Amino acid sequence: MKNNLLKITSILLIIIYFTDSKAYPTKPNTEKENHERLSLDKGWRFNLGDIPFPEIKGHEVSYSNAKAGKAWGAAAPEYNDTKWRTVNLPHDWAVEAPFDSTANVSQGYRQRGFGWYRRNFKLSKADNGKHLELQFDGVATNCTVWVNGIVVHRNWCGYNSFYIDITALAKYGDEINNIAVRVDANAQEGWWYEGAGIYRHTWLVKQSPLHLITDGVYAQPVKAKNGSWSVPVQATVENTGKTTASYVIETSLLDKKGNLIGQSTANGEVTPLNQNITSATIAVSNPELWDIDQPTLYQVRTVIKQNGNETDHLTTSCGFRTIRFTADSGFYLNDKHVKIKGVCSHQDHAGVGVAVPNSLWDFRLKKLKEMGVNGYRCAHNPPSAEFLAACDRIGILVMDENRNFNSSPEYMRQLEWMIRRDRNHPSIILWSVFNEEPMQGTEIGYEMVRRMAAVVKKLDSTRPVTAAANGGLFEPVNVTQAVDVVGFNYQIDVYDRFHKEHPEMKLTSSEDASAQMTRGEYANDKQKHLIESYDTQYPSWGQTHRNTWKAIAERPFLAGCFVWTAFDYRGEPQPFEWPTAGASFGIMDQCGFPKAAFYLHQAQWVENKPILQLIPQWNWPADSTGKQIRVMALSNADRIKLFLNGKQIEDSPVDRYEMITWKVPYHPGKLEAIGYKAGKEVSRSSVETTTSPVKLELIADRNAIAGEGWDAVPVTVRVLDAKNRPVETANLPVEFELQGPANIIGLGNGDPNSHEAEKGNKRRLYNGLAQVILQSKANSSGTLTLIARSKGLKDAKINITVTKSIQVPEVAVIN
Ligand code: GAL
Repeated sequence: MKNNLLKITSILLIIIYFTDSKAYPTKPNTEKENHERLSLDKGWRFNLGDIPFPEIKGHEVSYSNAKAGKAWGAAAPEYNDTKWRTVNLPHDWAVEAPFDSTANVSQGYRQRGFGWYRRNFKLSKADNGKHLELQFDGVATNCTVWVNGIVVHRNWCGYNSFYIDITALAKYGDEINNIAVRVDANAQEGWWYEGAGIYRHTWLVKQSPLHLITDGVYAQPVKAKNGSWSVPVQATVENTGKTTASYVIETSLLDKKGNLIGQSTANGEVTPLNQNITSATIAVSNPELWDIDQPTLYQVRTVIKQNGNETDHLTTSCGFRTIRFTADSGFYLNDKHVKIKGVCSHQDHAGVGVAVPNSLWDFRLKKLKEMGVNGYRCAHNPPSAEFLAACDRIGILVMDENRNFNSSPEYMRQLEWMIRRDRNHPSIILWSVFNEEPMQGTEIGYEMVRRMAAVVKKLDSTRPVTAAANGGLFEPVNVTQAVDVVGFNYQIDVYDRFHKEHPEMKLTSSEDASAQMTRGEYANDKQKHLIESYDTQYPSWGQTHRNTWKAIAERPFLAGCFVWTAFDYRGEPQPFEWPTAGASFGIMDQCGFPKAAFYLHQAQWVENKPILQLIPQWNWPADSTGKQIRVMALSNADRIKLFLNGKQIEDSPVDRYEMITWKVPYHPGKLEAIGYKAGKEVSRSSVETTTSPVKLELIADRNAIAGEGWDAVPVTVRVLDAKNRPVETANLPVEFELQGPANIIGLGNGDPNSHEAEKGNKRRLYNGLAQVILQSKANSSGTLTLIARSKGLKDAKINITVTKSIQVPEVAVIN
C-alpha cells in the first residue's frame, strides 16, 4: 500500500513536472539504478592560470613520472587545492574578466589563458561492478583530464563532447576519486569569442556492464517508397563484463502522451570488452508528422535484457518527417515546399558568455520563431545537445556544422562524434563539413570533403552533406563536386551563373547579408563607433538585409537563406575595433533585444499575423524640430498611412522587400502608422516623444521558473515616463537587489562598446534597455524578488515564482 502510494505520488510529480510549460528543466533522471546519469556540475575547485608541473629531474623522479597513477603537480590526487575558488559548471572564466585592449580582438578583447579544475567524489561499494563513464559536453578549448592521477584524455576541440570510461580506475567506499582538468584556452579554433573553461555540462553515468554505449541508439524514422513508415533502431551494445553475454534488445515507440505505438525485439551476443550493433525495426502506421508549425516528437525506449532482466535502457526522441532538396525548386519538408528563412549564430549570450543555461536556448529560439525564422545554422561548430533538443521541440530546421576542416584521424573522430550524437534530431536537415576554407577550389579541398562526406554517410545517409563555400566555385576541381547541396557564403553575384552552369546541382545560401547596425542608433558615428539602423551598412563581402533576401526569395532554385547573424556576439567587431568589443551583425543584440532588422525580417517572413513597426524612436533634441528624419515602416501590410500628431502626412504602398522609407519633418508628439490589407485596417504602430523617465520597469520573460538550480530567466529592465511610455533614449545606471532562492548570473545591455562588468548587480541601460539573468538555486521553491533602483527614479520590483521541481540527480561534492 505504502509502496503504491509512493509510486502514485512520484508519477504525479513527474506529470506535474512535464506539464508545467513554464519550467525548462533538464531531463530529470527517472531512470532506474541500472542507468543513472548524474550531474557533476557542482562544486569544482578552480584556479585561473597555469600551474606548471615540477621539473622532472633525477632517475627516481623520472621513473616514477612514467608510471600510471603518478601524475604530478595539480594533476596529482593529493594536490592541495583548498585555496582555489569553488565554481559550478557551466563556467566561462573569460567573461568574468575585464575587457583588455591587449587581448585578441577576435576573442572580444578578453584574456583567455589557462585554468585548472579539480573535483573529488565518492562511489559507494554498490557501484563496484558497474560501468562508469565521465562525460564532458564541452570544454574551451584544449584540455587534459586526469582521474586518480592517471591521464585519461586529451581533447583537441572546444565544441565536441568526450566520454571517458573510468571503470577500471575507480575507487569505492571511503576512498576518494579525483578528477583534474587542465584547460588551455589560449588555443583558438575560431575568429569569434570562444569563452574559456568547462562551459557545458559534465556527468557521471553508471550503467551495468552490459549496456548501450553513449550516443549508441540510432533511431531515425524512415518513409518507404510505398508511403509506409518505420523506425529502424540500431543499438550499439557494449559488454565490459568478464563473460560473453547473450541479450535481447526490446525497443518501443511511444507517442507524446506515452502511449505505446509499436515495438520490436532482436537478439544479440557480445564477447567481453567488445561492442556489437543490434538492429530492430518498429513498423508504424500513420504517425503524426514533425513539422515546423507542429513539431511532434515521439520517444524511442530501448531496453537490453539478459536472462529476462533489464540491464540497461535509454530513451531517445525522434520525429517523423521527410526532407528533400531539389535543383530547381529548393527544399521540401514532408513534401511541402519550404523556403528556408534561416539565420547563423554563435553560442555566446550577454552576461554568461558561452556558459549558456539550457533555458536561454529556448528563450533565444523563441525570439527567432517570433521573427518568422525556420532555420538555424550552428556557426561554425556543433552546438550543445540542449540547443538541438530545443530546436526539435520548437520546430526549427538546423544546419549542424563541423568545426575543423581536416580529414586526418583525430578530426574525422570529431566529425564522427557530431553525427553520432546528433543524428536522431528531426530538426537537423543538413550536415556542414566546413565554413569558408581556402582550399575549397583545389584538388586537396575536394579530396578532403570527399572523405569527410563519406564518413558522414556511413553514419547517416538520410541527410545531405553541404559545405559553406565563399569561393573556388568555378575551379575545375572544387568542393561543390563532393557535396550533396552546395552552400554559398555570400556569392550573391554568381547565384545565376552557377545555377546555369550546373542546373543539376542543389543549392542553398549558407551565409548571407552581414549587414550591421547598433540597436537603437539612427546615425552613423565613426567617433563613437555607432552604426545606423536603417539597413544601409554592410562590409565589402556582404549586402543589406533587404537586397539579400530579395535575391534569395526570387530564386526558386535556392533552398533559402542563412542570415549572418541572428544575435550579436563578442569578438569580430566590424568595422570598428577597440573599444568596440563585439560584432554588430546581429538581427538582435547580445541580450536578444530586437534591432530594426528584427522587424524587417518579421515583416518579410511572418505571414499569418499582421506586422508593423515604425522606426526610429521619436525623442529627438529640441533643436531637431523641423529637421527631416528618416522614418521606416516595416510591415507585411499592403499600404501604410502615416499620421503625425493626428494629421495624415503619408499614404504609401509597402514594397515587401524594401518596405517604406519616408522623410518626415520632426515635430515632437506622436507618429503613428496604420497598416491596411485589401483596404482594411490590420495593424498600428506608433512612436512617441516622452518626457523624462520617472520610474523603472522590470519584465520577466516567464513568471515562474523551476527550483532545480538550472532554470534561468532573462528579465528586461527599462524606464517609463510619467505617462508610462518607455523612454528608448535612456542610458541610466541601474542597481539590482535580489531576494529569495535565485542568483544573478549575468547582466547585459547589448551595447557593443560597453566595458561594464557582466557579473555583479549593476548595469546601465543602453538605449532604454538592459537585461538581468536570474537562475534558481538548487532544491528551492518560493518567490524571488528582484528590485531595480536608479537615482531619482521610482524603484521597480518584480516577483517570480520558483516552483518545487525534481532535482537533477548529482554526484555529491567531497572536499
Ligand atoms: C563570414 C564568416 C563568418 C563571419 C562573417 C562576418 O565570411 O563565415 O564567420 O566572419 O564573415 O561578416
